[in-house]
Amino acid sequence: MKFAVIGHPIDHSLSPVMHHANFQALNLDYGYEALNVPPKDMHLIKEIITSKGLDGFNVTIPHKTEIMSYLDVIDEASCAIGAVNTVKIENGKWIGYNTDGIGYVKGLIELDLHLKHRKILILGAGGASKGIAHALDKITEHKVTVANRTLSRFDSWQLDVHTMSLNEAALELDQFDIVINTTPLGMKDNQELPIELTNLKRGALVSDIVYTPSETPFLKAAKAQGNPIYNGLDMFVQQGAESFKIWTGHTADIEAMKNKVIEYL
Ligand code: ATR
Repeated sequence: MKFAVIGHPIDHSLSPVMHHANFQALNLDYGYEALNVPPKDMHLIKEIITSKGLDGFNVTIPHKTEIMSYLDVIDEASCAIGAVNTVKIENGKWIGYNTDGIGYVKGLIELDLHLKHRKILILGAGGASKGIAHALDKITEHKVTVANRTLSRFDSWQLDVHTMSLNEAALELDQFDIVINTTPLGMKDNQELPIELTNLKRGALVSDIVYTPSETPFLKAAKAQGNPIYNGLDMFVQQGAESFKIWTGHTADIEAMKNKVIEYL
């Protein structure tokens, strides 16, 4: 079988090495390549993918929403989230899924935090936030709270969540057991925090979906207050494992995938 990831830029994607590590661990002679598809070429995506004879592909920035207009079927979660990161090609039909949110939550479940009873705050209201909120909604007994800089972003949300501004979230922070940052603040050279952590509850888990750097300024600030932290590495690995399951029906070798990614970081 043959797979790929489409995105732009895509040179630094670790998806190919991660998926190859899984194929190797499972003794599968499969392929997975990174395809650089600039936005101006998206209208050619059917031709690009068909010429490669792929059985499925991942979709990353900036195509997760745009790809939806090329799909024959879109699963319920992807519709609610408004983004697709996994396409399965079955008898020429393109079927879209989203494994980002479920990938994050699968990683979180393994931390054994009794998630069902936890009050959770998500910072940011983009595609990643929606995916995580959607996946958490099925697991926790409390409604998830989502805080965003721009409140009008919630107008397009179909999910039943509490919403608030980032300022309100900072003031009410002591209410939450888990705080997840999905905004890009703290990535690369950015040193800003999405919110101040002065009111952070003792012992609350502070998480960021970013995994490079492994500790964003937000995670560092939480760690300095003595709180446990959790980055986005497991999310990346688990979303890949979920895609593999969708494409092949098989369970991925998570450990082989994670070890390979760590080797490259
Ligand atoms: P993704 O799909 O990765 O979630 P996105 O859809 O572009 O990315 O969403 C980015 C999120 O980060 C949004 O919630 C955005 O807030 P706005 O709706 O107010 O734009 C948030 N974000 C981006 N830059 C931010 C900043 N400088 N401060 C606060 N929030 C920011």
